[in-house]
Amino acid sequence: MNTEASIQQIKKMVGEAGAQLVKNDMVIGIGSGSTVGYFISALGQRTRDGLSFKAVPTSTQSKALALAEGIKLLELGDVSSIDLTIDGADELDTQLRLIKGGGGFLLQEKLVAAVSTQLVIIADYGKLKDQIGAFALPIEVVPYGWNHIQKRLLDRFGKKSMLRLKDGKPYVTDHGHYLLDCAFGLIADPDELNTELHLIPGVVETGLFLNMATKALVGYPDGKIVEMLPK
Ligand code: 5RP
Repeated sequence: MNTEASIQQIKKMVGEAGAQLVKNDMVIGIGSGSTVGYFISALGQRTRDGLSFKAVPTSTQSKALALAEGIKLLELGDVSSIDLTIDGADELDTQLRLIKGGGGFLLQEKLVAAVSTQLVIIADYGKLKDQIGAFALPIEVVPYGWNHIQKRLLDRFGKKSMLRLKDGKPYVTDHGHYLLDCAFGLIADPDELNTELHLIPGVVETGLFLNMATKALVGYPDGKIVEMLPK
């Protein structure tokens, strides 16, 4: 049964499993998105039960949710490293290569992931793919002359991209940038694509998270959670 209700139940289940990985005195990273929302709620309960840790949020959205749960927060610049980050993903493959940014927070998510000893992805089974790329890749770009970046994507890759909108206006990220969602289709070589995208002037960051995730907890409708390590 692939109803939205069962997907939400699976997101809650993996969110709660993620919260069990947090130990006393850890510095953790808190990702973004609806699955992470369940993680934050479960972590709030653990905080009220006496667990002591500090957290770096990856978005204004997660920051607000964590503060409401009484979780002690730090800024990324205040920490030398992060023990464990729990985050969601839009797609992942068995090598734990990810597409992220569906929620619009990829830059800060990647900055936090990059200094994390462990990055654990919590996801429902629908996001696990043989090959990533069906989900349009979010690319964070500077607003100045963004349409030239869009044209470059079309000229270089033959792919159309859409400027992400919110309430009919360009969606502005937490760091003042725009997002281009680019439908690449299945991506044969994510590393090569990521490198090429970074060569385009004005591209700030991409939603390809490669060689970053150390584990994934993938939830299924029968209540099972499969723990995956990168192949
Ligand atoms: C936000 C993200 C999210 O982790 C991703 O979009 C998954 O979201 P959800 O848990 O709501 O399905 O990358 O930038």
